[in-house]
Formats: sequence, C-alpha cells, structure tokens
Amino acid sequence: MKKYFVKVYMRILNFKNNILPRYFISSPFLSSFYYLFFSAKFRREQHAVLQGKVFHLKELKFNKSNVYTLIRNTHRIEKGLLMRPRRPVFALDFISETVDAFINIWEPKRMENDLQYKWFYDVLSEYFDTSGENKLVERERVRFLRKVDNTIIGQIEKKSIPYSRIDVDIPKISYDEFYKLTRYRRSVRWFLNEKVPRELVDKAILAANQSPTACNRQPFEYRVIDDPTLLKKVANLPRGVKGYVDGIPMMVVVVGNLDAYFDERDRHLIYIDASLANMTFMLALETLNLGSCPINWPDIEELEVKMDRVLELEKHQRAIMCMAVGFPDPSGKVAFSEKKNLNTIRKFN
Ligand SMILES: Cc1cc2nc3c(=O)[nH]c(=O)nc-3n(C[C@H](O)[C@H](O)[C@H](O)COP(=O)(O)O)c2cc1C
Repeated sequence: MKKYFVKVYMRILNFKNNILPRYFISSPFLSSFYYLFFSAKFRREQHAVLQGKVFHLKELKFNKSNVYTLIRNTHRIEKGLLMRPRRPVFALDFISETVDAFINIWEPKRMENDLQYKWFYDVLSEYFDTSGENKLVERERVRFLRKVDNTIIGQIEKKSIPYSRIDVDIPKISYDEFYKLTRYRRSVRWFLNEKVPRELVDKAILAANQSPTACNRQPFEYRVIDDPTLLKKVANLPRGVKGYVDGIPMMVVVVGNLDAYFDERDRHLIYIDASLANMTFMLALETLNLGSCPINWPDIEELEVKMDRVLELEKHQRAIMCMAVGFPDPSGKVAFSEKKNLNTIRKFN
C-alpha cells in the first residue's frame, strides 16, 4: 500500500516538475502564471528583491540617507569630472539627492578611519569647486558647505578624486607570474588542522574589495566564521562539502545586500559583483599561503531559512556563496581540472 502511494506521489511530482512546465513556456506572462500557481522556487528571491527595494526607497525618500545612493552618485560625479570633453555643468538631475544623502550620512570624524567618507567629501568638494555657474549648483554648494565643518576646509588635501595613472606606483607583476598564480590556485579540500589568522583573511578581503562593482556599490558582506560551534552549523548547511566538511577550519559566507537597489532590474548585481570580488579574494588567499574552495549555495528554501537564522540575516540579504578557507594540507591532492581550450571559449567579433 505504502509503495503504491509513493509511486503515485512520484508520478505527480514528475508531472508537476517535468511535464507541466512545457505548457507555460510560450510567453513571459504564462511563465509568471506557472511560478505563481505551480512553483514557489522564485518566491524567496522575489521577496528579498522587494524587501530590498522598499527598504532602499524608504531610506531614500523619507530619511534621505541612503548610503548606496551616496556611493552611486559620488561615482557618477567622478565620471562627470573625468569626462572628455568635460561638461562645465552636470549632475543637475541628482545633485540635490546627493547633497541630501551627504548631509544625513557624512560626519567629518568618520573620515579618519573610513576612507570612503573622505572620498564623498573630496569628490563633492571638487565638483562644487570646479562647476560652471548654475543656480541649482550654487544652492547645493551652500547646503554642502553648511554641513561641512568650516575648520576642516582648506586643511584637507583633496586626494580621492579622478587622477592620472601615470602618477602612481605601477605594480611589477608579470603576465607569466600572474598566469602561474591562476594555474596554481585550485580548489583545496584538505586543510591542516590550524587556525586561520584573522589578519590574513582581512588582507584577502581588502584585496577583494578592490574589485569592480556596478556603480562602486559593493553590495555584499563577508561573514567569516571561525568560531567552532558556529562553524559546525554553517559548514554543514551547503550540500557540496560531503566527505571533507569536518576538516574545514574556516568558512566564509558572502552575503548580498539587495537594499542597494531602487529597481528590480539590478537584482542580479549582487551575484555578479560578489563573484568578481570572490575571485580576487581566492587569488589573494593564495599569495598568503592559504587555500580555498568555493562552495555552491543553491536556492533551496529549507537551507536558506536555516542560513538566515544562523547568520541572523535581514530579509533583503541573501547568501550568495560559501568558501572554505585554510592552510592546504600538502599531502592532500587537488583535482587537475583541466580547462577548455582557448579556441572553444573565445570568438573575436
Ligand atoms: C559557484 C561554485 C560552486 C562550487 N561548489 C562546490 C561545492 O559545492 N563543493 C565542492 O567541493 N566544490 C565546489 N566548487 C568547486 C568546483 O568544483 C571547482 O572550482 C571546479 O571543479 C574547478 O576546479 P578548480 O577550482 O580547482 O579550478 C564550486 C565552484 C564554484 C565556482
């Protein structure tokens, strides 16, 4: 009897997952219909995207203090400053929003230990110092200067503004050495039973954070888990660690912040931006004699709920990827993982 019910259940499941979808693929509207009534697989993502958007708009419209807007607009102003030819007056459609956010977020004291706060000040200050005449710009300049402590004007050297790369110390890393590093990095699954020094992980995160992100938003956080009790809980959540989970000395969970966006169109950026940073992170780890293994975080509701709870994530935050980190055990092997041939992955034009 039990066998019969299992068989019927499997048939229904197969119909729902593999046959029914065929009837809903002819248009985006029908696909939405399918996901509304027959599958909840996008539900958590949609919820997180909407939570992030509403949170973002609330901070922007009511509190006028959205830090992602301040970052994005500072970036847009920098682009205006370096444009060739430079327009004498620009950013009229978002300068008031930027100054609003600056007034509500920026504090002179924070510049001492957070260079991004200096960047906000320097770029806006450069914009107002060099803008052509315009009534709106003049009004916003007055608001900007009212916020800035008069005692610091003139004392700050404006460094965090567009510059020519001719003037900087050019890194001396050859292509051959860099390529060697990319080949040397392989997913490491066997680690020494040694604690990973936090300062080394911090160094790798500092390098990761130099990676490009859309409008420089950096919409992610690195949750570094080395407390043994928490580590046990977190490391056992992803399914791809069977067989080596007990030897992982540190787990890094990269979490995306969907409150970085005012519109659904940007919902993929947390994954793109975090992935670019993660690659830098893993290469940086190799330069510090640490190995890593990226670990999949599939969108499985039951696991996500657990991860949210363990890491106490907000509703607009999503775990993106995990990475096992540690000193590689020299006696443990890594997979050869030969890559595709250049001609199969590259087409010119
Ligand atoms: C997004 C992503 C998810 C991965 N998930 C797992 C995983 O769950 N378990 C695992 O052991 N390896 C995982 N890996 C590692 C891959 O298996 C590995 O990168 C691939 O086989 C190529 O080998 P290499 O990293 O040594 O070049 C993952 C890698 C990526 C980029």
